[in-house]
Amino acid sequence: MTSLANKQILLGVTGGIAAYKSADLVRRLQDAGASVQVVMTPAAQEFITPLTMQALSGNPVHTQLLDPEAEAGMGHIQLARWADLVLIAPATADFIARLSQGMGNDLLTSICLATAAPIAIAPAMNQGMWHNQATQTNLETLSKRKVSVFGPADGIQACGDIGAGRMLEPLQLVDAAASLFASGSLAGKKVVITAGPTREALDPVRYLSNYSSGKMGYALAQAAAEAGAETILISGPTQLPAPARVKRIEVISAEEMHRASLHAAQGCDLFIAAAAVADYRPAQIAAQKMKKDNSDTLTLALVKNPDIVASIASLNPKPFTVGFAAESENLLEYARVKLARKNLDMVVANNISDSTIGFNSDDNAVTLVEQNGATDISQRSKQQLARELIALFAQKITVQ
Ligand code: PMT
Repeated sequence: MTSLANKQILLGVTGGIAAYKSADLVRRLQDAGASVQVVMTPAAQEFITPLTMQALSGNPVHTQLLDPEAEAGMGHIQLARWADLVLIAPATADFIARLSQGMGNDLLTSICLATAAPIAIAPAMNQGMWHNQATQTNLETLSKRKVSVFGPADGIQACGDIGAGRMLEPLQLVDAAASLFASGSLAGKKVVITAGPTREALDPVRYLSNYSSGKMGYALAQAAAEAGAETILISGPTQLPAPARVKRIEVISAEEMHRASLHAAQGCDLFIAAAAVADYRPAQIAAQKMKKDNSDTLTLALVKNPDIVASIASLNPKPFTVGFAAESENLLEYARVKLARKNLDMVVANNISDSTIGFNSDDNAVTLVEQNGATDISQRSKQQLARELIALFAQKITVQ
């Protein structure tokens, strides 16, 4: 498994002869575990057909900025949000110029303007065009904006010239893309993350639980592993596969999650509590299936579960301890109370009254609450958010 496993890559194809290699690139990215959607400029379609790219990617190919059907479904904003990486291969001199100017005069440039995902380009052009001062100035502008430039390679060109300007080979591009997700910022660190719901048994067939899917915690585990950490994921029941290079410990109840967390947290540098832990569990678990009686109501006696993240925050030495706060009102106020009461270093507060973020959604939007202030992070995919949070936690641990 590479760090491209489960990544969503938007492959932009612009109009150069190297576009024929983009077809192979789709396959190579998929081999590395990524999902690929393709956007083609009009010029790219002179070199290779959308049908080819559609057949290879298994997804419709996007070609129009103003497409009424696409706007109803997967318009440029949705594509911009969907992508974990926007990779433009080949990137022509003309496209590089338009990107550097911040233009939005076609679908691909508009996506680049709208996306919060990293952007990488694989230039492909004649060596004279590559060396032209205008192209080099545009590339400097893009690198100041943190756009990654993969290649180009030297060699014989389609026009017969010899020199720099050949697009990198598909496998080289896959390696370069994978390296963007492997930061190494947590190399040598141990990270423990809780994720998903807990189930609190009532009897052999019933339980109390919540709507957590585990997506937020799993995305954090994947990002921590990509950052080089030894990563342990303590997961309640979910439908999700364990991310690559992550040790998953599966638990059911809050008490099991508590025991597993205390054990795993020994010697850990960072503990992140993304799980939605049941605050209470039934006082008694019936040994046999509970039967209806004649009463219209049923009263359950519940007892408090141990507070997992608070237990970790009371350890000595204490790891950098991050809790989440799932709130439907008074987000900041309640998050500050949790920060203090549980002795946390940071609380990531999410508003669970909005169904497009928080529980069981692909996106999240959060407010990071610390002793000395609060910072908003706007809506984005849980994968992107996780990578940004992990980068931030890595900085905090390093300066501690
Ligand atoms: O799993 P997803 O569908 O992706 O949804 C993500 C999420 C909404 C579940 C996640 O982003 C989130 O907010 N997780 C915390 C949910 C929660 O239980 O919040 P809380 O405010 O009740 O708890 C505050 C903190 O204490 C949390 O870090 C929680 O993990 C921790 N806690 C709570 C109770 C308990 N007994 N032990 C704990 O460790």
